[in-house]
Amino acid sequence: MTIQHFITLDDLPQSTLSNLIERAIELKALTKSGAIYEPLKNKSLAMIFSKSSTRTRVSFEVGMRQLGGGTLNLSPNDTQIGRGEPLEDTARVISSMVDGVMIRTDEHQKLTTFADFSSVPVINGLTDDFHPCQLLADIQTFVELRGAIQGATIAWVGDGNNVCNSFMNAARIFDFTLNVATPVDYRPNQTLVDCNQSNVHLFDCARTAVTGADVVVTDTWASMGQENEKDSRSAAFSGFCVDSDLMALADKDALFMHCLPAYRGMEVSNQVIEGKQSVVFQEAENRLHAQKALLEHLLA
Ligand code: CP
Ligand code: NVA
Repeated sequence: MTIQHFITLDDLPQSTLSNLIERAIELKALTKSGAIYEPLKNKSLAMIFSKSSTRTRVSFEVGMRQLGGGTLNLSPNDTQIGRGEPLEDTARVISSMVDGVMIRTDEHQKLTTFADFSSVPVINGLTDDFHPCQLLADIQTFVELRGAIQGATIAWVGDGNNVCNSFMNAARIFDFTLNVATPVDYRPNQTLVDCNQSNVHLFDCARTAVTGADVVVTDTWASMGQENEKDSRSAAFSGFCVDSDLMALADKDALFMHCLPAYRGMEVSNQVIEGKQSVVFQEAENRLHAQKALLEHLLA
């Protein structure tokens, strides 16, 4: 039997992803009503974090607990992974004892190798290449506030990074337009752009990309692992800060999104992230609800 992993959005059919978004909205209401719903009683999710995390860590931990299950937090340094035990062995051992594994790591291939040897579902909690769980929460947030996302225009401003890559996949799958504005040297992976070309348009100019958009979204200019490029990136991305002048070019009802953590005064101004168009904290909370829907689908 093949194991259903969630490595990128393409691992699930569009209809299943849409159902997950609807289910996330239902589970959110259920939780807020105080109802107890524990379909994952006695189930365990192993969480392996090779990079820092606030939202992903807390949302998976609390999500599993609310669904009646539990988590194990396995930092590479506390396990034999840090001493070089092969991922192929680690995957077979851990997956023989738990019901699911969530991994945040650097090289995407480490995640796919783990998944190849795992006997239980593996969830991508962010790699250098993709962050699909973030997109579940982002789409849930759009649907809650604006309804169907099909046909919407979303402007990505800044670095063509892992979150941008998952946005490009989402644009094709959910059929919205994604305008991606980056400095020329920081465009997203061209192969991925080609795969999503019907829905993705590249721009050098942030102002052109955001004009009339329904959502303006950005992310840090220096992702985890790129800390030593901070200064060169700050210089390269000048002109790509989402400030009030840029937001004013988008639709008057446009939302501002950011996966967080945010760096005020860099990729976004304080005024925009704290302003009334910003939905960043709803997005962050929705990580919990969207991943509960995902966990229920994969593990129940
Ligand atoms: N957005 C997001 O994944 O946040 P964390 O790095 O805090 O998990
Ligand atoms: N692009 C960022 C996202 C953090 C959630 C990073 O990889 O650090």
